[in-house]
Amino acid sequence: MKKIVNKSITLALSKGRIFEDTMPLLAEAGIKVNDNPEKSRKLIIQTSDPNLRILILRASDVPTYVQYGAADIGIAGKDILIEHSAQQPGGLYQPINLNIARCRLAVAVRQDFNYKDAVKQGSRLRVATKYIRSAREHFAAKGVHIDLIKLYGSMELAPLVGLADAIVDIVSTGDTLKANGLVVVEDIIPISSRLIVNQASLKNNVASLQPIIDAFSRATNLYE
Ligand code: PRP
Repeated sequence: MKKIVNKSITLALSKGRIFEDTMPLLAEAGIKVNDNPEKSRKLIIQTSDPNLRILILRASDVPTYVQYGAADIGIAGKDILIEHSAQQPGGLYQPINLNIARCRLAVAVRQDFNYKDAVKQGSRLRVATKYIRSAREHFAAKGVHIDLIKLYGSMELAPLVGLADAIVDIVSTGDTLKANGLVVVEDIIPISSRLIVNQASLKNNVASLQPIIDAFSRATNLYE
């Protein structure tokens, strides 16, 4: 197998949609991974390219690893990057929109909750989300007063048990909302994943990073 990387590179990924959608991009670059993170509990996965290894992280940790240089490059959703940049600005290049793991950030409520009336009447809404910055900016732009409740997952539960009136969450197929009797009332922003690069790595290691950035860039055209 031809090596496309000539100095060690660490790529940070998260399990699930991003990992699955990244595999065809790596395959386009002639790279195969040696383990499946859904089956293996390994957090460092080697690839067919001896100079490229993959870290398996929580999605929200991917920008942190890249920003501090523990990984040279990573793939993260725009949703995660918006929240990350609110807390830890700087240090990341976002050179390519990979157009993978596409979904949207949306406001959802229980089917029987009259969101339009609540907004019209100027009610103060309780909104549960892990996307604090996106939610705050969305409702501020609409002039809607909210109390934000920070959650870390299973947001769909919050309106069902009276914790919140609405949630701000990722919607992909819409199956999770449907299964829990929730409906989208507003779209906030379309989401896709970006290739992020540590600025110092790019400067010091451009010869190794550029071929893989180019390979991702070429492969991304497959999705357009
Ligand atoms: C996201 C989101 C929803 C689900 C929506 O969770 O929080 O629960 O996907 O997908 P659907 O519209 O296709 O049903 P994810 O699986 O990314 O895990 P998370 O809870 O860790 O965010």
